[in-house]
Amino acid sequence: MAYTLKMRLWRGDQSGGELKDYDVEVESGEVVLDAIHRVQATQAGDLAVRWNCKAGKCGSCSAEVNGRPKLMCMCRLSDFDEAETITVTPLRTFPVIRDLVTDVSYNYEKAKELPYVQLPERKPGEKRTMMQEDVERGQEFRKCIECYLCQNVCHVVRDHEDNKKAFSGPRFFLRYAELDMHPLDTADRRERAQDSAGIGMCNITKCCTEVCPEGIHITDNAIIPMKERVADKKFDPLVWLGDKIGIR
Ligand code: SF4
Ligand code: F3S
Ligand code: FES
Repeated sequence: MAYTLKMRLWRGDQSGGELKDYDVEVESGEVVLDAIHRVQATQAGDLAVRWNCKAGKCGSCSAEVNGRPKLMCMCRLSDFDEAETITVTPLRTFPVIRDLVTDVSYNYEKAKELPYVQLPERKPGEKRTMMQEDVERGQEFRKCIECYLCQNVCHVVRDHEDNKKAFSGPRFFLRYAELDMHPLDTADRRERAQDSAGIGMCNITKCCTEVCPEGIHITDNAIIPMKERVADKKFDPLVWLGDKIGIR
């Protein structure tokens, strides 16, 4: 069924901006991104919006819809009352480039800091077998589409720009855990997770897990186990003694 939707979209750039109202013809089976594209096609040709797959898989169309972090291409109009105004604003944690597009390079910088997987050299003829349990555990983490909605809602950086330097954020704690749980990996990331990635600053609010469009259990399956590994190293008396006498 067609109807006229009231939309309020943030328009502006680094120097400032404001919410602007648009009335747009939509069908009830459409999604927020369809409505935005129609505004762009009929009323605001210069409206900046980032998207790619329109299937919830590229992670490009993240924004805040009525204040909630969402993928715009997966956000159905039928989930709203037809009389309701839908307000779309850019992700708050990252600097605005223009309109609904933000600069997410903070995340690329954090990705660069991650120690890669280190496998022992393969001996001639050696066969390596991975337990199904280990395969499945990593598989959950690899579902990440890098939409950065989890990074956007984490209070450690959302309202504290100055924490960004010392905090990698939930998306990258997930990656730390994924690499660390690889059964053949030999790198020890625990100190780095604690010191330069700032996993200790996470106080397990689980907001990241709540918004993940892939349903990844970021806090329970990645952050908490990684925190436990860090704590094991820090508080294990043998490790402490080894550190003291310099044999580790
Ligand atoms: Fe997005 Fe989930 Fe990946 Fe975070 S972990 S970037 S919310 S898909
Ligand atoms: Fe932030 Fe998630 Fe921890 S929202 S505080 S990283 S549980
Ligand atoms: Fe790809 Fe929305 S356009 S996730």
